[in-house]
Amino acid sequence: MHTLALYPGSFDPITYGHLDILERAANLFDQVKVTVAVNKEKRSVFTGDERVALINECIADKEWAANIEVDQFTGLLVNHAKKLKAKTLVRGVRQISDFEYEFRMALTNKRLAPEVDTIFLMPAEEFTFISASLVKEIAYWDGDLSSFVPNNVAAALKEKFQK
Ligand code: PNS
Repeated sequence: MHTLALYPGSFDPITYGHLDILERAANLFDQVKVTVAVNKEKRSVFTGDERVALINECIADKEWAANIEVDQFTGLLVNHAKKLKAKTLVRGVRQISDFEYEFRMALTNKRLAPEVDTIFLMPAEEFTFISASLVKEIAYWDGDLSSFVPNNVAAALKEKFQK
């Protein structure tokens, strides 16, 4: 059986925490598709294309990433999953406070598409507090991003916030 999992998220931008989850997913499934949610109503720092490009740059030299592809979608995640014939969604859970939102989202997705399951992965402990929103705040105030995001992402953030 060929297993395909989607790893959906905003990835605005991708962090070391996301990359940790992605590596775990890549080791568990035959194929992983990182699916960047693009929602015109939701304000994001990076466009869909920019977020996809940053993720691709981050995994380009990773030997564990051979079975990973990156794409973007607009609309309902379960519709995108059905289109790709994916039966599994991967979400990272950092702490208990994430769980309420994740549980609600997983149950909603299950109501919409009972054949699609969400599995939760925990990152390594050192990444449990990293979030894209805190990363953006650090970038806004020109702080040191080196332990939160790879260099290409830090550079892209600096460029955005200098403007
Ligand atoms: O990284 P995030 O912002 O926590 O990811 C949330 C995301 C993008 C996975 C979620 O908002 C989503 O699936 N959006 C697409 C619209 C949708 O399907 N909504 C219903 C899910 S409850």
